[in-house]
Amino acid sequence: MDRRNFLKAGGAAIAAAAAAQVSPAAAQGGRRGRSGFTMWQLNTQCNQIGNSYVFLTDRGRVIVMDGGHKDDEYYLRGFLARLGNKVDTWFISHPHIDHMGSLSNIMVEPRGITIRRIIHSRFNEALIQSEDYCVERCRMFYERLDAFRDAEVIDLQQAGMEESIDGFHFRILGVSNREILQNGYNNSSVVIKVCDRRKSILFLGDAGVECGRKLLANVPRSDLDSDYMQMAHHGQNGCDRQFYDTVDFRACLWSTPKWVWENDFGQGPGSGKLKTFETRAWMDEKGIREHHVSWMGLWQLD
Ligand SMILES: [Fe+2]
Repeated sequence: MDRRNFLKAGGAAIAAAAAAQVSPAAAQGGRRGRSGFTMWQLNTQCNQIGNSYVFLTDRGRVIVMDGGHKDDEYYLRGFLARLGNKVDTWFISHPHIDHMGSLSNIMVEPRGITIRRIIHSRFNEALIQSEDYCVERCRMFYERLDAFRDAEVIDLQQAGMEESIDGFHFRILGVSNREILQNGYNNSSVVIKVCDRRKSILFLGDAGVECGRKLLANVPRSDLDSDYMQMAHHGQNGCDRQFYDTVDFRACLWSTPKWVWENDFGQGPGSGKLKTFETRAWMDEKGIREHHVSWMGLWQLD
């Protein structure tokens, strides 16, 4: 068995396991009427950093936020299969492999997955080249996006897009920041506010300090304040304390593997150079007690 077929065989098992985690009621759209959408924060299967959220609207449409690391592709495929394999809208925050990796592969080989449209904010050449080690993968992603004729691709270069997909309402608060080349990829994360009748979530992607400051300067507080905050850059070395202290929220979403959560580089908690404990302390001091961390398992929000 060659490597590709081996991966496919393993991938099928992973996909089946993922499908089993979607409750039958949700798979059949059985939660209609209770809120505008159900959301899942997907738990990485490859112990990698990755940002992946799947939504099911009250009328049964499926939306994906990022979709995670390329090595979590099969887990995501299983999830989407259980929900019918039809994605209405797929948001990509920025072209790092832990955010667009799964979609990049799915565009080459959809295998039954259909996507109505993809919303992203394309980098210009200066941004593409702002991180040497990302250039090749970023270009490949854009080549695949350009070649993918099955979906409408919406390239946002200005914030402000606002729309309702059934009971799922979204507003784009930030797009690629061409004037910020420092930490360029992360600081050009698309920032999205999502809400329904019952809850709101601010998705920061991997926003860095400068992106956070720009949001505070340009976006009304009422748009930033949310029930749930997707912690920037997997919860460390993202937006600064001023950002988190200024914006109101009551719970944190962490797309964070255990080794990042504990800053464990193999010698036990605290043995790495990550700043996760610093962010966790900020949240403790802010009085946040509700945390949903992806390494702890799949989490569903209704
Ligand atoms: Fe990331």
